[in-house]
Amino acid sequence: MPTPFPKSPTFSTIDEPFRLEGSLCDLEVDGQIPAELDGTFFRVGPDQAFPPKMGDANPFNGDGFVTAFRIKDGHCDMQMQYVHTQRLLAERKARRGLFGDYRNAFTDDESVKGLNRAVANTNVIPHNGMILAMKEDQPPYAMDPFTLETKGLFTWDGQMTATSFTAHPKIDFETGDLYGYAYAAKGEATDDIAIYSFDKHGRKTWEVWIKSPYPGMIHECAISENYIVLPLMPQVMSLDRIRKGGIIFQWEPTYDQVYIVMPKGGDAKDVRFFHAPNAMPGHVVNAFDDGGKLYLDLPVALDNVFWFFPDKDGKFPPPGSFGTEVTRWCFDMNDRNSKGVPNVMSTLAAEFPHCDDRYVGKPYKYGFMQASDHTQPYDPQRAGPIMGFFFNTFLTMDMSTGKADTWFCGDTSSTQEPVFAPKSPTAAEGEGYVLGVVNRRAEHRSDLVILDAMNMAQGPVATIKIPVRLKYAIHGNWVPSSAWA
Ligand SMILES: [Fe+2]
Repeated sequence: MPTPFPKSPTFSTIDEPFRLEGSLCDLEVDGQIPAELDGTFFRVGPDQAFPPKMGDANPFNGDGFVTAFRIKDGHCDMQMQYVHTQRLLAERKARRGLFGDYRNAFTDDESVKGLNRAVANTNVIPHNGMILAMKEDQPPYAMDPFTLETKGLFTWDGQMTATSFTAHPKIDFETGDLYGYAYAAKGEATDDIAIYSFDKHGRKTWEVWIKSPYPGMIHECAISENYIVLPLMPQVMSLDRIRKGGIIFQWEPTYDQVYIVMPKGGDAKDVRFFHAPNAMPGHVVNAFDDGGKLYLDLPVALDNVFWFFPDKDGKFPPPGSFGTEVTRWCFDMNDRNSKGVPNVMSTLAAEFPHCDDRYVGKPYKYGFMQASDHTQPYDPQRAGPIMGFFFNTFLTMDMSTGKADTWFCGDTSSTQEPVFAPKSPTAAEGEGYVLGVVNRRAEHRSDLVILDAMNMAQGPVATIKIPVRLKYAIHGNWVPSSAWA
């Protein structure tokens, strides 16, 4: 007899298990999808296929579930598909959860010892004719971009030897070069970092190994013309802890955040560590160089944001307390004794940023994000309680001033990470659309909204109606059809 899923926050409200693979042709639309939009919005998130072996689960432990919105000539089709990982296939065969706690192989069923644990649930990016479904504790899975067929674990044909690979590589738009890294690169809780680049054909062009100041989470990276930056956050791993049945990460309120800066193509001796007071660096908007100075833009939370990775006393941030400072760091690369200098651009609780992909690593003006605007109303009677992360606003931020042009999604709705699609390959920076999923929580279904990125406040130019509820995905990307040419 099948086991029921638990009624815990991980599996409640919009995050109840969905598990349904399928496709929909020609979704209903309010308004008009801009005729010039031609591409696919890929997104991925966790959707645990079987009730958790351990009774409940960390929300990051779910099986990778990809959605593809294919948009052309004013129409939108949708496809939903699990990444068919070794793990998912083994559990389907057994019809039960076999893998244990989050990033803790010691808790797995004996029958799956040695099988790869990748869930591929965090990000999905285009590379060398494939899309890669990525999760930072394992190598990615490759998928066919047109059918979403899973092709298998991907290590760049063995050129990538680290045991993990980031879910947030960065791609130079002009060259197609992909920059990425692995932390815990020699196994869980190790302090080894490997940094890589691959050209657009998947050939390795750079590899360097360094030691981390402490074995902490490095969730993101940024590239500029000359550097790669890895923000190290005070969420610290311990093998001993997971061996005893504890959690892999623990928040360390006395540890520095550290910005690890490496010249592209550099040796281990070239690395610099910019320490800064305890805080939690978030997702990268962009980075760029200017006259020997390296600038890095990202939201920084002043406290831990992961309630499921508390400190040693079990203290964690209360739900709904999420806040960030969108910060522009300046690192003087000509002065080896300098410290990073922060400049807070905005105190909106903004996160999940994208820039215009054509400007990655270059001077730029606009960031596209979602925010948790605590001044806006929310109706829990109709929309249900807030559990976990909650966002209600899409915005375009002018990164030279911090000024935001915002759109609030309504008091019974919540937003998911938005992406940016330029109007055309030659359009000016920011001239295009912000696309994002909105959860209509009172109706138990979702919409995909399309907003003019330069006029967010006017509201969606098109609302694509989705007749089912889309669980909270983690990340996604807009891939123009021209990318596959
Ligand atoms: Fe992320």
